[in-house]
Amino acid sequence: MKTIFLSGGCGYIGSHTCVELIEAGYQVIVYDNLSNSKEIAMERVKQITGVRPIFIRGDILDAVNLEKVFQNYKIDAVIHFAGLKAVGESVSKPLEYYHNNITGTLLLLQIMRKYNVFDFVFSSSATVYGTPSVLPITEQAPTGNTTNPYGTSKLYIEQILKDLYKSDPRFHITILRYFNPIGAHPSGLIGENPNGIPNNLLPYITQTAIGIREYVGVFGKDYDTPDGTGVRDYIHVCDLARGHILALNHKKAGVEIYNLGTGKGYSVLEVLHSMEKACGHSIPYKIMPRRSGDIASCYCDPTKAKRELGFEAEYEMDQMCEHAWNWQKKNPNGY
Ligand code: NAD
Ligand code: WQD
Repeated sequence: MKTIFLSGGCGYIGSHTCVELIEAGYQVIVYDNLSNSKEIAMERVKQITGVRPIFIRGDILDAVNLEKVFQNYKIDAVIHFAGLKAVGESVSKPLEYYHNNITGTLLLLQIMRKYNVFDFVFSSSATVYGTPSVLPITEQAPTGNTTNPYGTSKLYIEQILKDLYKSDPRFHITILRYFNPIGAHPSGLIGENPNGIPNNLLPYITQTAIGIREYVGVFGKDYDTPDGTGVRDYIHVCDLARGHILALNHKKAGVEIYNLGTGKGYSVLEVLHSMEKACGHSIPYKIMPRRSGDIASCYCDPTKAKRELGFEAEYEMDQMCEHAWNWQKKNPNGY
């Protein structure tokens, strides 16, 4: 049985990936400092799969503690989710974001190399494309012009990974550029658990639907899109999680980059209306000014992931909303 080390595995995408890994027959070690997650997610993973991942509370910045894990277990591959991800906060705390995301990655890679672990899957983001000049976005599209330190940290880490491979071809690195992950496990036992006021659209909508927020602010209705609201490529988090298993199984040497999205764009109002169907009532919203740094449309060309990994998203928007709503209803205040 192969053992996979998941940094940040207690979080939103990590916990869903735990489920997929366990169901695919892997042993999972989760290493998380719980700065943006709760350990109860591990219990919920056990409720779903019958297996509780090995959980180690620790910080990737704590090299001594991190190294102990590599001493104590024979690790076959690493999926690196740990990172700070709040775009707005990264603007006011650039040093903290660069330190956590970049230094943390450097320490993890150094320890991997020391213990001869060379398989690495990295959580990157569509944000590295900046403002795309051509849609849909292929992996060849230019990167850069990121608008916040969070996005820039992903861009820098991608470069570090390319440089590392050049220096040491034993590494097998997969960079997954996620588009907009939403939804929750169909059981409603695990899901997105934002702290405070959500920054992202989906949790804001579900919290409004359940009555925690008064209305959804729709950021801009004057974009060059069919209904004037922003268009994004939303992907079900379970589909995304499955993409990681396919990436682990794909044995192509080098640094490979894949978009993980559906290739379809949905506007803010389309998502809102889909959630209204899921929850069975209307959801109040107000048109607000554009949010600074936002782009009109962003969706991927998913062909490369399909061709090389055999990855194809299965869930449609209505199911993504049903599952997000199921999670919200069963856990009105999160975990
Ligand atoms: P999340 O915050 O739910 O999960 C990240 C986990 O990392 C959390 O459990 C947190 O406690 C942990 N963590 C953070 N810093 C750590 C550290 N120094 N040491 C140990 N653990 C640490 O976020 P998520 O949505 O699951 O995202 C996972 C990864 O995917 C992140 O790297 C994120 O940047 C990336 N990503 C997320 C999205 C998205 O929209 N959710 C999109 C693209 C990329
Ligand atoms: C989606 C759409 C908003 C909230 C962010 C990060 C990106 C990646 C995914 C990590 C946009 C609109 C939103 C609200 C709204 N994360 N919106 N009202 O901005 O596409 O991407 O998360 O890598 O890096 O930037 O996602 O969910 O914030 O917004 O109208 O209350 O919903 O303007 O059009 P975004 P989002």
